[in-house]
Amino acid sequence: MRISLCGNDTLYDSALVLLTEEDCANLPAFDDEMRGVIATLIARKDFTGKKDSFLRVPMTEGTMYLSGLGKKDKCTLKTIRDSLASGLRTAGKNRAKSAYVPLAHLKEHDGLCFALGEASGLCGYAFDSYKTKDEDYEPFALDEIFTDINGDEDISAGMKFAGAQVFSRGIANEPGCAVCPATMAEKAESLAREYGLECDIWDEKRLASERMGALLAVGSGSKNPPRLIHLTYKPKGTPSKKIAFVGKGITFDSGGLNIKPDNFMLTMKGDKTGACNVLGIMKGVAELGVTAEVHGFMTCAENMPSGSSYRPDDIIRARNGKTIEITNTDAEGRLVLADALCVASELKPDVIIDMATLTGACAVALGKTRAGLFVNDDDLAGKLLTASENAGEPLWRMPLDDDEISESMKSPFADLLNSGPRYGGAIYAALFLKEFIGENISWAHLDIAGVDFRDKVKGIYCKGATAFGVRTCLEFIMRL
Ligand code: BES
Ligand code: MN
Ligand code: ZN
Repeated sequence: MRISLCGNDTLYDSALVLLTEEDCANLPAFDDEMRGVIATLIARKDFTGKKDSFLRVPMTEGTMYLSGLGKKDKCTLKTIRDSLASGLRTAGKNRAKSAYVPLAHLKEHDGLCFALGEASGLCGYAFDSYKTKDEDYEPFALDEIFTDINGDEDISAGMKFAGAQVFSRGIANEPGCAVCPATMAEKAESLAREYGLECDIWDEKRLASERMGALLAVGSGSKNPPRLIHLTYKPKGTPSKKIAFVGKGITFDSGGLNIKPDNFMLTMKGDKTGACNVLGIMKGVAELGVTAEVHGFMTCAENMPSGSSYRPDDIIRARNGKTIEITNTDAEGRLVLADALCVASELKPDVIIDMATLTGACAVALGKTRAGLFVNDDDLAGKLLTASENAGEPLWRMPLDDDEISESMKSPFADLLNSGPRYGGAIYAALFLKEFIGENISWAHLDIAGVDFRDKVKGIYCKGATAFGVRTCLEFIMRL
């Protein structure tokens, strides 16, 4: 996709994507050129400018797409980003090869060019590689965008953010028959080759010699053995900070011997989203050339029931020596993360951020639009909340100081129980992870179980994986 600057005098031989607030007062001076069409549409209430309102207007030269932003005081950059993505997606699906997207009339908002870059990169993605492209298939045609405000650098950075998120979506959407832990390792290796990252992969033998007992236990029921993947990005010159990301990479979560009932197993191909996000973040970090040293850990296994599975009642030993009594093999995410968090802590980074589709409880608590944020450092909490606000990926801070839940983690026979009471399940999981964070390390845990999938196309999201969190993390690194 190319995005360039252009004046008002362009001939709209393609698509005009026009974003408008509810009172429509902020419409640019296009209406002269449009021979008053917009004013007529508003007067007749064919188009209201309400949030998510949309009108496609075929013209003699090209097509106009009016996209509503809603009330002015409620319109945020997130609204604009979503509205841009919807408009551009519809234009592209209707075979427009190029689009003119004026933004000067919205100039009281910061970050417009960045959002245009993001929307342009996110709008065209759909998980359709397995579909036969018959005559009903509408390819996405858009490959050129013009706008009326200057900001090449922001546009290009926005496109890199989007590219990282789309990369993550592409892998997260692949089913368990196509992506197993070894496939994740291959994807990491090819990313490392492309961008000159360091890549270290621990196979099952190495995992054993490295005392990764929790990851090995979770992987033991599958014929696809587990992997720990470690990518490193080193900046030119002395790094400003050292950041480690850790992603849960369960390529399929059947629940193991505590097998998931009926359709609870559906969408569990998406249980590797945390790891896919880490891959996306590493791609973004390399393309943006950030000044921090960034480590990406992906802790990958397939959770399956079989004769070799780990069992309820088993007692396993994690890398830091802590023993864990298994009370539910479906609480596997915290186990694979435990070992990886130990390895990440050994690097003594300034910050560890883990991402995981960890608990149904978090989805129940916060719904499908907000991810849970658990963090042991208020300063880091503030920075992540700001980054998430800017990225339009809402986070909600959750408690990490529940003494009664901490109390319930004790096992009579081991140091910890892997699962606890049903109520407060997301907090229990976060407190469990905390046991594996090295001393004096700022740490944040994002529970993305509720936000990892969408079932309809809307704004920047398509059907399937969202890769929620990738842009928040990139934004966080860029602001360090
Ligand atoms: N991968 C699931 C969590 C999940 C649920 C993600 C729904 C996305 C949508 C996780 O491994 C899991 O099964 N968690 C259990 C924990 C319980 C056994 C303590 C859960 O949430 O039910
Ligand atoms: Mn599970
Ligand atoms: Zn899981």
